[in-house]
Amino acid sequence: MRNKKTTVFVVDDEKSVQESMRMILKDKYPVFTFNCPEEALADLSLEPDLIFTDIRMFSMNGLEFLEKIKKIKPQVEVVMITAYPDFSSSLQALRSGAFDYIVKPFGKDQVLEAAERALQKRNQVMESTRLIKDLHEAIDLNYEATTQALVLAVDAKDSYTAEHSRRTSELLVRIGKRIGIPDSKLINYKRAAELHDIGKIGIEERILRRKGSLSPFELEKIKQHPLIGYQILRPTIFLKEGLDIVLYHHESYDGRGYPEGLKGKKIPFPARLFAIIDTYDAITTERCYRSKLSPGEAIEEIIKVKGKQFDFSLVDLLVPHFLKFEKDGYLSRL
Ligand SMILES: [Fe+2]
Repeated sequence: MRNKKTTVFVVDDEKSVQESMRMILKDKYPVFTFNCPEEALADLSLEPDLIFTDIRMFSMNGLEFLEKIKKIKPQVEVVMITAYPDFSSSLQALRSGAFDYIVKPFGKDQVLEAAERALQKRNQVMESTRLIKDLHEAIDLNYEATTQALVLAVDAKDSYTAEHSRRTSELLVRIGKRIGIPDSKLINYKRAAELHDIGKIGIEERILRRKGSLSPFELEKIKQHPLIGYQILRPTIFLKEGLDIVLYHHESYDGRGYPEGLKGKKIPFPARLFAIIDTYDAITTERCYRSKLSPGEAIEEIIKVKGKQFDFSLVDLLVPHFLKFEKDGYLSRL
């Protein structure tokens, strides 16, 4: 029976080879024949599953063609057609990713068998790729669900922290995209930002909700939240370098921060970046112990402490984006 879903290309500069391959394969698969690799490459939109190609052709060498195909469509299986005794090229083809080779003059069974085995392998690869994709999707959903569960846990204890975490993670993603942080890193930073104050779960509510100034003892307790948060989240693998945000977001560029008193570039980049965003949000939000600043005033405050609390070059990099956001009205909508 003809397999309509499977498409086979035959690439050979000899018309007679093209025709005999077509005759052998046409009852089982839709077959497209090409005189040269360039023609086949131009028709890749036909989505071939299997390509039979001659090793030696006038325009492009079959091995070069194989490399191109494997780069563009790595899952397409390629069977080389070779003239005896061209075994060194055949070996090189196998090393470069060809599935198999057939030797001219070939018989019907030899071609059909090679096609069947190549397509069987392709189906297996496609199936495992699909399974891996499904697994990654399931893991991603799981990450999101876990993050949300933890955010709700923080919210139950301290709703300001939950809202503050949402705003800072949103701002971090917006700024991160503008300064060219790749999405693969940004997703970890975003999750970590959403959970950066999770350690406050371990701090007594009366301290978190204190309206007046804190005693030195209470201040020390508060300062434990980055480490508590880090300990809570360390077993998770999905935050990766985002964990630095959790542990180091209260470090200060001049070494006066906590928990480790790291200085300058010893503070990991995501934490140096997030510290600016964290402070921006904190000082533009009304709290029971102080009134909020406007976005413009907050940007000025951040500039004042560049090189002290914050990495000066990062402040210089971020300020134009903050100003743009302020102009757009985005900051007041956060
Ligand atoms: Fe914090």
